[in-house]
Amino acid sequence: MSWKDTRLNQVIATVISNIEVLPHVHLMWLECPSICRETLPGQFVMVRCGEETILRRPLSIHQIEGDRLAILYTVIGKGTQWLATRQPGEGVDILGPLGNGFMVDDDSRNLLLVAGGMGIAPLVFLADKAVAEGRDVTLLYGTANNDRYAVPTGIREVAATEDGSVGHQGMITELVPEYLEATDQTFTCGPLPMLQNIANMSELEERSVQVSLEMRMGCGFGVCYSCTIKTVDGLKQVCKDGPVFELNNIVWEEIRI
Ligand SMILES: Cc1cc2nc3c(=O)[nH]c(=O)nc-3n(C[C@H](O)[C@H](O)[C@H](O)COP(=O)(O)OP(=O)(O)OC[C@H]3O[C@@H](n4cnc5c(N)ncnc54)[C@H](O)[C@@H]3O)c2cc1C
Ligand code: FES
Repeated sequence: MSWKDTRLNQVIATVISNIEVLPHVHLMWLECPSICRETLPGQFVMVRCGEETILRRPLSIHQIEGDRLAILYTVIGKGTQWLATRQPGEGVDILGPLGNGFMVDDDSRNLLLVAGGMGIAPLVFLADKAVAEGRDVTLLYGTANNDRYAVPTGIREVAATEDGSVGHQGMITELVPEYLEATDQTFTCGPLPMLQNIANMSELEERSVQVSLEMRMGCGFGVCYSCTIKTVDGLKQVCKDGPVFELNNIVWEEIRI
């Protein structure tokens, strides 16, 4: 896997299935060969969500199987409510793949993935690909309670829940230090407080950590500047220069999501 330019496609993808896998969380499979051929873990699509929402909604590419692509989304507002009512056989207008994606070094054998809540969505695709390449993957997956997404086999999963119903009781970030010794690279996605927590961990200062950011987005491909953030290398657009950044490149005090 490497950073590379991928071709942007706008397609009407056919819905294969769209089911509620957890309360208010849907898994949608779409048929869209042109996007599937080009996609890297960590990239996303912009989805047109009906006539009543002007802006497309950004959603991570969650899995790829042949010509089919999955998105895993929480139903929260107008756009995702519209998406949740799509039926098999209907078309959904999507634009992608967008963004840079995660970069896994060729010689990294042991990957540590840290997911908070819906941050699991892009990390499953990364885990699938890494396992297929013969790498060892440990996933630290934190949720509020036992409404947890069933992650693929072939990876070591370590659970944390805020209410203690599964695994460690507390925040998933509390477990990170004990898994670092055998880790070559760390990848993370989740809510902003979790990412800020990770950014403050002294144990990670000298390590390779990539973080996927979820900012509010207007266009998704570098035109509107609504997703601009401050990094140590100057202002960057999350949709075009990210959504994946090196942890230590981001000026965390200035991030507002
Ligand atoms: C690169 C990227 C990848 C994403 N991947 C996923 C994913 O795989 N699964 C998933 O469930 N969500 C993902 N999101 C968040 C998703 O885009 C929003 O939840 C969605 O746009 C909400 O649309 P809506 O019309 O339903 O809600 P809206 O009515 O637009 O918003 C309702 C509330 O949702 C929150 N929200 C809206 N947009 C965003 C956003 N971009 N980021 C964070 N919170 C937002 C705000 O608090 C807002 O008040 C991703 C965001 C980005 C930028
Ligand atoms: S969302 Fe428009 S520039 Fe990033």
